[in-house]
Amino acid sequence: MQKIEIHTKSRPSAVYCGEGAFLAAQQFLGENEVFVVTDENVWDIYGEDVEYLFPKAHVCILPAGEKHKNKSSLFRILDEMLAAGLHRSSYVVALGGGVVGDMAGLAAAMYMRGTHLIQIPTTLLAQVDSSVGGKTAIDYKNVKNVLGAFYQPERVYCDPKFLQTLPPREIRCGLGEIIKTGVLDGALGEKILQNADKLTDLDFLRSLVTDCVRFKARVVERDETESSGLRKCLNLGHTTGHALELRYGRRSHGEYVLIGMWLESYIAEGEGVATAEHSAWVRSLVSLAEKKIPAFPNVRECVSNALLDKKNDRAGVVSVVLSKAKGEFEEYALSSEKYAEYLSRLEEGRR
Ligand code: NAD
Ligand code: GLY
Repeated sequence: MQKIEIHTKSRPSAVYCGEGAFLAAQQFLGENEVFVVTDENVWDIYGEDVEYLFPKAHVCILPAGEKHKNKSSLFRILDEMLAAGLHRSSYVVALGGGVVGDMAGLAAAMYMRGTHLIQIPTTLLAQVDSSVGGKTAIDYKNVKNVLGAFYQPERVYCDPKFLQTLPPREIRCGLGEIIKTGVLDGALGEKILQNADKLTDLDFLRSLVTDCVRFKARVVERDETESSGLRKCLNLGHTTGHALELRYGRRSHGEYVLIGMWLESYIAEGEGVATAEHSAWVRSLVSLAEKKIPAFPNVRECVSNALLDKKNDRAGVVSVVLSKAKGEFEEYALSSEKYAEYLSRLEEGRR
C-alpha cells in the first residue's frame, strides 16, 4: 500500500492506495464512533463487509445517483447524525462514489462545525479525483456543486477491490478524470496513450489511481481553495461538461468531462491558445474513452448553465480552462455568443 501525504493549510491529509486499504481504514478507526454514509448500490454489494468490519457503526444509506445529490439527501444525513447523537469527535466515513463523498463531506463540515471525515472511495472516479482535495458540495436549483465547502478528509483509503464490481460504464466515467489528469500532466497522458490497450486492466488502473492522486495532491497543496488559480486546472473540460450534465442528465459526470474536453480543445485551437497538433493530441486521449461524441439537440441552450459556472467573475462571459500544451493550461474568458458558436459543434456530434 502506498501513502501519499497532502499538506494543506487547513489540515494534513493522507491517501492510502492499494490492496488492504479498506482493512487499514477499519484498523485506524478502531473503537471510535463511526457513522457510515453510503448509497443503496454500494450497500447491496458491500453491506455485509461493513457490518462485519464496523459492527457498531451507524449507517445512513442514500438513494444512488447524481439526481439525489441535493438538499434532501444532505439533510437526511444531518438528521441521522443528530439522531445517532454524534459528537465532534465522531468519524463520518463516506463509502461510495463521488456523489456520496461530496455529500458526506459537506455534512461532516457542517455538523457541529466539523466532525472527523474519512473517505473510502468505491468508484474509479472517486479514487482518482473526488475523494482527494476536500471539495464537498450538493447541487441546488439546477446549479452544479453550488452549495459546498472546502473540507479536507483526514484520510482517504483507495482500495482496488472496489473497482472489481464496477460496471464498464463507471470505469469509462473514471477514465474521464484520469484522461483530464493525463492532459494536465503530459507524461501521464503519454503513459495512457502508450498503454491504450490496458485501460480496462485492473492492475494498470491501480497504477493510474496512484499517479492521479500524486498529481492532485501537489496541486491541492499549492492552492487548496482555488485562490491562486492553479487548482482551476482541475476544471479542464468541466465548464462545458457541467453545463451539458445539468441540461441533459442521463450520462455520468466523467462522460460529460470527456465531451467537455473534446469541445474545449476546439476552443483552444480556434482562439489560438493551443496549436492544432496539441488539440488533436487532447482529442486522441479523449477518444480512448469516448469513441463517439454524441449529438446534443438545442445545445446552445446550455450557455445559460455555463454562465453560472463558479469560475466566471464577469457577467456575460464564459470562463473555460484550456490545455495550451502538455502540462500547461490557461484560464480563458470568451463572450457567451462566441461560446455558443463553439458549442454548436456538438449539435451533430462526431463519429
Ligand atoms: P456516483 O457516486 O453516482 O457513482 C456511480 C455509480 O456507481 C452509482 O450508481 C453508485 O451506486 C455505483 N457504485 C459506487 N461504487 C460502486 C462499486 N464499487 N461497485 C458497483 N457500483 C458502485 O458517481 P461518481 O462518478 O463516483 O462521482 C460523480 C460525482 O463526483 C459528481 O457529482 C461530481 O460532481 C463529483 N466530483 C467531485 C469532485 C470533487 O473534487 N469533490 C471531483 C470530481 C467529481
Ligand atoms: N475536481 C476539481 C477539484 O478538485 O478541484
